[in-house]
Amino acid sequence: MTPWRRIAAVLVLAGLLGWIEVPAQQHSPRGSQPTGTAQGPIRITDEELHRHGGTPPGWRFTVPEGDPRAGRAVFIKLECYSCHRVAGEFFSGGTKDQKPGPELSGMGGMHPTEYLAEAIMNPNAVIITGPGYTGPDGLSTMPDYSELLTLRQLLDLVAYLKSLTPKADGVHRGH
Ligand code: HEC
Repeated sequence: MTPWRRIAAVLVLAGLLGWIEVPAQQHSPRGSQPTGTAQGPIRITDEELHRHGGTPPGWRFTVPEGDPRAGRAVFIKLECYSCHRVAGEFFSGGTKDQKPGPELSGMGGMHPTEYLAEAIMNPNAVIITGPGYTGPDGLSTMPDYSELLTLRQLLDLVAYLKSLTPKADGVHRGH
Protein backbone atom coordinates (compact mmCIF):
# COMPACT_ATOMS: atom_id res chain seq x y z
CA MET A 1 0.00 0.00 0.00
CA THR A 2 1.36 3.47 -0.89
CA PRO A 3 1.53 5.98 1.99
CA TRP A 4 -1.31 7.96 0.39
CA ARG A 5 -3.51 4.92 0.17
CA ARG A 6 -2.73 4.11 3.79
CA ILE A 7 -3.69 7.64 4.89
CA ALA A 8 -6.87 7.44 2.83
CA ALA A 9 -7.73 4.06 4.36
CA VAL A 10 -7.20 5.44 7.89
CA LEU A 11 -9.39 8.44 7.14
CA VAL A 12 -12.18 6.24 5.79
CA LEU A 13 -11.93 3.99 8.84
CA ALA A 14 -11.91 7.01 11.19
CA GLY A 15 -14.99 8.35 9.43
CA LEU A 16 -16.76 5.00 9.73
CA LEU A 17 -15.93 4.78 13.43
CA GLY A 18 -17.24 8.29 13.96
CA TRP A 19 -13.91 9.76 15.06
CA ILE A 20 -14.21 12.54 12.55
CA GLU A 21 -17.23 14.64 13.25
CA VAL A 22 -18.94 15.65 10.07
CA PRO A 23 -20.81 18.89 10.79
CA ALA A 24 -24.56 18.40 10.50
CA GLN A 25 -26.02 20.24 7.55
CA GLN A 26 -26.95 23.73 8.65
CA HIS A 27 -30.69 24.10 8.78
CA SER A 28 -31.67 27.11 6.81
CA PRO A 29 -35.30 28.16 6.59
CA ARG A 30 -34.49 30.52 3.75
CA GLY A 31 -34.87 29.13 0.30
CA SER A 32 -36.47 25.93 1.56
CA GLN A 33 -40.07 24.82 1.28
CA PRO A 34 -42.30 25.57 4.25
CA THR A 35 -43.04 22.37 6.17
CA GLY A 36 -46.79 22.87 6.35
CA THR A 37 -48.89 24.75 8.86
CA ALA A 38 -48.04 25.32 12.51
CA GLN A 39 -49.91 22.05 13.16
CA GLY A 40 -47.88 20.27 10.50
CA PRO A 41 -49.09 19.05 7.12
CA ILE A 42 -52.71 17.95 6.77
CA ARG A 43 -52.84 14.58 5.00
CA ILE A 44 -56.03 13.65 3.21
CA THR A 45 -57.07 11.51 0.27
CA ASP A 46 -58.45 13.08 -2.87
CA GLU A 47 -61.75 11.28 -2.23
CA GLU A 48 -62.10 12.68 1.29
CA LEU A 49 -61.18 16.11 0.00
CA HIS A 50 -64.01 16.02 -2.53
CA ARG A 51 -66.45 14.65 0.04
CA HIS A 52 -65.71 17.67 2.24
CA GLY A 53 -66.39 20.14 -0.55
CA GLY A 54 -62.83 20.78 -1.68
CA THR A 55 -61.01 21.55 1.57
CA PRO A 56 -60.09 19.41 4.58
CA PRO A 57 -62.53 19.83 7.50
CA GLY A 58 -61.55 22.89 9.53
CA TRP A 59 -59.10 24.05 6.86
CA ARG A 60 -58.26 27.69 6.53
CA PHE A 61 -55.77 29.61 4.45
CA THR A 62 -52.49 29.99 6.28
CA VAL A 63 -49.38 32.02 5.55
CA PRO A 64 -46.09 30.25 6.24
CA GLU A 65 -43.52 31.77 8.54
CA GLY A 66 -41.17 34.43 7.22
CA ASP A 67 -38.11 36.23 8.51
CA PRO A 68 -39.00 39.60 10.09
CA ARG A 69 -35.48 40.97 9.67
CA ALA A 70 -35.41 40.18 5.99
CA GLY A 71 -38.92 41.63 5.78
CA ARG A 72 -37.76 44.91 7.25
CA ALA A 73 -35.15 45.07 4.49
CA VAL A 74 -37.90 44.49 1.90
CA PHE A 75 -39.98 47.24 3.53
CA ILE A 76 -37.04 49.58 3.00
CA LYS A 77 -36.21 48.34 -0.50
CA LEU A 78 -39.76 48.86 -1.73
CA GLU A 79 -39.99 52.17 0.11
CA CYS A 80 -43.18 51.27 1.94
CA TYR A 81 -42.09 53.97 4.40
CA SER A 82 -42.78 56.62 1.78
CA CYS A 83 -46.48 56.14 2.58
CA HIS A 84 -46.41 54.47 6.00
CA ARG A 85 -44.95 55.67 9.23
CA VAL A 86 -44.00 52.97 11.74
CA ALA A 87 -43.80 54.44 15.23
CA GLY A 88 -40.53 53.46 16.88
CA GLU A 89 -38.82 52.90 13.55
CA PHE A 90 -36.68 55.30 11.61
CA PHE A 91 -36.05 54.74 7.92
CA SER A 92 -33.56 57.06 6.29
CA GLY A 93 -35.42 58.85 3.55
CA GLY A 94 -38.66 58.59 5.48
CA THR A 95 -39.76 61.74 7.20
CA LYS A 96 -42.05 62.20 10.17
CA ASP A 97 -44.49 64.24 8.10
CA GLN A 98 -48.07 63.22 7.48
CA LYS A 99 -48.01 60.12 5.25
CA PRO A 100 -50.56 59.15 2.60
CA GLY A 101 -51.15 55.77 4.29
CA PRO A 102 -51.96 54.54 7.81
CA GLU A 103 -49.31 54.28 10.52
CA LEU A 104 -48.29 50.61 10.85
CA SER A 105 -46.89 50.05 14.34
CA GLY A 106 -49.04 47.66 16.33
CA MET A 107 -50.13 45.89 13.12
CA GLY A 108 -48.99 42.50 14.36
CA GLY A 109 -50.80 42.73 17.67
CA MET A 110 -54.00 43.78 15.94
CA HIS A 111 -54.28 41.64 12.81
CA PRO A 112 -53.86 37.97 11.94
CA THR A 113 -51.03 37.10 9.56
CA GLU A 114 -53.44 36.26 6.73
CA TYR A 115 -55.02 39.71 6.95
CA LEU A 116 -51.59 41.34 6.61
CA ALA A 117 -50.76 39.20 3.58
CA GLU A 118 -54.06 40.18 1.97
CA ALA A 119 -53.41 43.87 2.67
CA ILE A 120 -50.32 43.63 0.45
CA MET A 121 -51.65 41.21 -2.19
CA ASN A 122 -54.98 42.97 -2.61
CA PRO A 123 -55.19 46.41 -1.00
CA ASN A 124 -58.74 46.79 -2.27
CA ALA A 125 -60.04 43.73 -0.41
CA VAL A 126 -60.41 45.93 2.69
CA ILE A 127 -60.06 49.65 2.23
CA ILE A 128 -59.22 51.60 5.35
CA THR A 129 -61.05 54.89 5.05
CA GLY A 130 -58.90 57.90 5.80
CA PRO A 131 -57.95 61.23 4.34
CA GLY A 132 -56.11 60.64 1.05
CA TYR A 133 -56.22 56.86 1.39
CA THR A 134 -58.27 56.46 -1.79
CA GLY A 135 -57.95 57.92 -5.28
CA PRO A 136 -60.62 59.48 -7.52
CA ASP A 137 -61.85 55.94 -8.37
CA GLY A 138 -62.60 55.31 -4.71
CA LEU A 139 -59.96 52.57 -4.55
CA SER A 140 -56.83 52.30 -2.39
CA THR A 141 -53.84 54.36 -3.49
CA MET A 142 -51.52 51.57 -2.34
CA PRO A 143 -49.51 50.30 -5.34
CA ASP A 144 -49.84 46.85 -6.90
CA TYR A 145 -46.87 44.76 -5.77
CA SER A 146 -47.75 41.57 -7.63
CA GLU A 147 -44.93 42.00 -10.16
CA LEU A 148 -42.42 43.34 -7.65
CA LEU A 149 -42.41 40.81 -4.82
CA THR A 150 -41.31 37.21 -4.74
CA LEU A 151 -43.35 34.90 -2.52
CA ARG A 152 -40.40 34.78 -0.12
CA GLN A 153 -40.29 38.56 0.08
CA LEU A 154 -44.03 38.68 0.70
CA LEU A 155 -43.74 36.15 3.55
CA ASP A 156 -40.82 38.06 5.07
CA LEU A 157 -42.66 41.36 4.75
CA VAL A 158 -45.71 39.87 6.46
CA ALA A 159 -43.45 38.48 9.22
CA TYR A 160 -42.03 41.97 9.70
CA LEU A 161 -45.50 43.53 9.96
CA LYS A 162 -46.55 40.71 12.31
CA SER A 163 -43.56 41.55 14.53
CA LEU A 164 -44.85 45.11 14.99
CA THR A 165 -46.66 44.90 18.30
CA PRO A 166 -48.04 47.86 20.24
CA LYS A 167 -45.08 47.41 22.61
CA ALA A 168 -42.93 48.98 19.90
CA ASP A 169 -44.79 52.27 20.46
CA GLY A 170 -42.80 54.82 22.32
CA VAL A 171 -39.47 53.14 21.58
CA HIS A 172 -38.07 55.79 19.34
CA ARG A 173 -34.90 54.86 17.55
CA GLY A 174 -33.10 57.68 15.82
CA HIS A 175 -35.33 60.66 15.20
C1 HEC B 1 -48.49 55.17 -2.39
C2 HEC B 1 -48.66 54.94 -0.97
C3 HEC B 1 -48.46 53.56 -0.41
C4 HEC B 1 -47.37 52.74 -0.50
C5 HEC B 1 -46.07 52.98 -1.28
C6 HEC B 1 -47.66 51.58 0.31
N1 HEC B 1 -48.87 51.69 0.88
FE1 HEC B 1 -49.72 50.41 2.21
N2 HEC B 1 -51.43 51.52 2.24
C7 HEC B 1 -51.58 52.75 1.60
C8 HEC B 1 -52.92 53.24 1.87
C9 HEC B 1 -53.49 54.56 1.35
C10 HEC B 1 -53.55 52.31 2.71
C11 HEC B 1 -54.98 52.42 3.29
C12 HEC B 1 -56.03 52.05 2.28
C13 HEC B 1 -56.08 50.57 2.15
O1 HEC B 1 -56.70 49.95 3.01
O2 HEC B 1 -55.50 50.03 1.21
C14 HEC B 1 -52.57 51.24 2.92
C15 HEC B 1 -52.80 50.13 3.71
C16 HEC B 1 -51.83 49.23 4.09
C17 HEC B 1 -52.01 48.18 5.06
C18 HEC B 1 -53.28 47.89 5.83
C19 HEC B 1 -53.29 48.68 7.11
C20 HEC B 1 -54.46 48.34 8.01
O3 HEC B 1 -54.58 48.99 9.06
O4 HEC B 1 -55.24 47.44 7.69
C21 HEC B 1 -50.83 47.52 5.15
C22 HEC B 1 -50.52 46.32 6.04
C23 HEC B 1 -49.91 48.13 4.23
N3 HEC B 1 -50.54 49.17 3.61
C24 HEC B 1 -48.60 47.73 4.02
C25 HEC B 1 -47.77 48.25 3.04
C26 HEC B 1 -46.49 47.69 2.68
C27 HEC B 1 -45.86 46.48 3.33
C28 HEC B 1 -46.00 48.46 1.67
C29 HEC B 1 -44.73 48.26 0.87
C30 HEC B 1 -44.61 47.00 0.16
C31 HEC B 1 -46.96 49.51 1.41
N4 HEC B 1 -48.03 49.33 2.25
C32 HEC B 1 -46.79 50.50 0.49
C33 HEC B 1 -50.66 53.38 0.83
C34 HEC B 1 -49.42 52.88 0.47
